[in-house]
Amino acid sequence: MKIGRLHLDRPVVLAPLAGITNLPFRLLAREAGCGLVTTEMVSADGLVHGAAATFDLLRSLPEEKPLAVQIFGSEPAVMAEAAAIVEASGADVVDLNFGCAVRKIVRTGAGVALMREPRRAEALLQAVRQAVKIPLTIKIRSGWERTGRNALAIGEMAEACGVDALTLHPRTAGQKFSGQADWALIAALKQRLRIPVIGNGDIRRAEDARRMMAETGCDAVMIGRRAIGYPQIFSEVVSCLTGIPQPVPDFDQRIAVMRRFVAVSVDCFGERRAVRLMRTRLAWFGKGMRHSAGLRKAVGGINSIEEALALIDAYQQLPKAGLGGEEISPFISAEPFRPGGRPPEG
Ligand SMILES: Cc1cc2nc3c(=O)[nH]c(=O)nc-3n(C[C@H](O)[C@H](O)[C@H](O)COP(=O)(O)O)c2cc1C
Repeated sequence: MKIGRLHLDRPVVLAPLAGITNLPFRLLAREAGCGLVTTEMVSADGLVHGAAATFDLLRSLPEEKPLAVQIFGSEPAVMAEAAAIVEASGADVVDLNFGCAVRKIVRTGAGVALMREPRRAEALLQAVRQAVKIPLTIKIRSGWERTGRNALAIGEMAEACGVDALTLHPRTAGQKFSGQADWALIAALKQRLRIPVIGNGDIRRAEDARRMMAETGCDAVMIGRRAIGYPQIFSEVVSCLTGIPQPVPDFDQRIAVMRRFVAVSVDCFGERRAVRLMRTRLAWFGKGMRHSAGLRKAVGGINSIEEALALIDAYQQLPKAGLGGEEISPFISAEPFRPGGRPPEG
């Protein structure tokens, strides 16, 4: 699979997720076999005005490459300048957000608002294309109607403007995340375009990725929500697509990823910031596992990396039988859990 001159070793892409796909998260996705990782959406205005917090979102490491940086905005000149900043930062791909349906963004004319303003969209695509040489992609929704007419029109326009690939999340602006993604629209778009089409929406297990590619003919798949706390979805998808199924990771393998997330976060951000992150993010990795509700409560009390690691150790040692041990588990007890303290004997 190629995006412009960039060759992806695997046709599997990490979706941009605001507030989530930071550097440690992307490193874990890449380690699990993801072919292209994406930042969260980055404000073009913020980049052009030199906002330090916005520039921080461009921080990258060679180990996560290739990297796509997604920017959002509505002014062609500003988006072009921001794209040039992204290129200069060393990103492999610049991706433009044409899909965000959050009211705060749509009100400014950015995100999915661009899909009902074809003239502005075209000017913006032309300006950005002129400003950068690296591969350029856009990420769109179905648009404003269920027919998907907007998506087909924007897709053709993007191709004519020199965009190298396009991702479609086939839900309308009004749907946000409700209902089901309409994969038939991915197939329709793929038939219309020569540039690669990346399909996105509702991939929850490896088999869904294989089915999306088979049913729509898309060139690659993009995964968002399922990757939160479960980067192993990428290795599962890669092995499913290559026909070499692998076992679903067991409890201890998932715990190992939790520890890896702590270590990578400290390396990337230093201990203080990593501790703050762990309070809100560590529990993602326990989702769907036994005692996960207790883990969710306990992570809020983490005050140091030692406490985070002690909490993981204690979590791992909880009775494997699950239900039988729950009432004596620190992860569900009313008592505040003291990281470092031993869980009660069971
Ligand atoms: C918490 C969250 C944040 C998101 N942030 C972005 C974003 O910054 N840019 C974007 O284009 N899409 C964003 N999306 C949409 C996802 O990239 C993706 O299109 C959507 O979740 C559907 O894919 P999935 O079913 O694999 O999750 C976000 C979605 C969620 C749930």
